[in-house]
Amino acid sequence: MSFRNASIRLAKSASSAIVAAQSKRALSVLARQAARPTVARKVVPTIAARGVKTINFGGMDEIVYERADWPREKLLEYFKNDTLALIGYGSQGYGQGLNLRDNGLNVIIGVRKNGASWKAAIEDGWVPGENLFDVTEAIGKGTIIMNLLSDAAQSETWPTIAPLLTEGKTLYFSHGFSPVFKELTHVEPPKNIDVILAAPKGSGRTVRSLFKEGRGINSSYAVWNDRS
Ligand SMILES: NC(=O)c1ccc[n+]([C@@H]2O[C@H](COP(=O)([O-])OP(=O)(O)OC[C@H]3O[C@@H](n4cnc5c(N)ncnc54)[C@H](OP(=O)(O)O)[C@@H]3O)[C@@H](O)[C@H]2O)c1
Repeated sequence: MSFRNASIRLAKSASSAIVAAQSKRALSVLARQAARPTVARKVVPTIAARGVKTINFGGMDEIVYERADWPREKLLEYFKNDTLALIGYGSQGYGQGLNLRDNGLNVIIGVRKNGASWKAAIEDGWVPGENLFDVTEAIGKGTIIMNLLSDAAQSETWPTIAPLLTEGKTLYFSHGFSPVFKELTHVEPPKNIDVILAAPKGSGRTVRSLFKEGRGINSSYAVWNDRS
């Protein structure tokens, strides 16, 4: 089983803003409706399609994985020897980190000491020296390094992080920006490690709230470098 499955699984286990314009639109529609006489309308329910295995995006067939393809037991077995070092505890760090922890995976957090994220992590039950470390220490302990710093910080910290990404580790992103625009970001992952993406299609708060409802969020996954 390739590490492609790791990215898929991370997307599912980890991984709202309905913009004001939409709210306004909704309100104006409601206002218009209130002014009209009531007419019985035929309601056509939207039914989510299940069991879709491929979707064609722009002429390319992409494989779709669902939760049923990766039950929790399989996930735990697959990652039983891994330490997921989640770097950054902002929006995505919070959502993905807590979901991974609740799913029983071995996850640790790496953030700068005494920053806002460090304090937020402690409030969420992460314990310094046990599963909360500074960035360098967490990367040293991790096998899958989930870079969930802000995109600007990924670029800023790359000179420090890059030498720590030694052979055998996997580098994970939740946005392709850093490696894709490497001329701007200077984030150029080493060739001797796996590099993957799992990008939830929503904020970390939504990733978390849907998980707590027993649901999930659709996510994109990709493999940038398949070393293993
Ligand atoms: N937000 C979304 O809706 C969303 C959705 C999908 C994908 N993504 C992607 O997920 C990744 C994370 O995004 P995010 O929105 O979760 O980020 P974010 O909320 O902006 O997280 C910022 C994190 O970066 C840390 N940080 C900032 N500057 C730093 C520095 N110079 N050194 C060390 N740490 C620093 C912060 O720590 P301190 O508290 O110490 O400052 C904080 O933990 C990005 O690649 C983003 O594109 C985001």
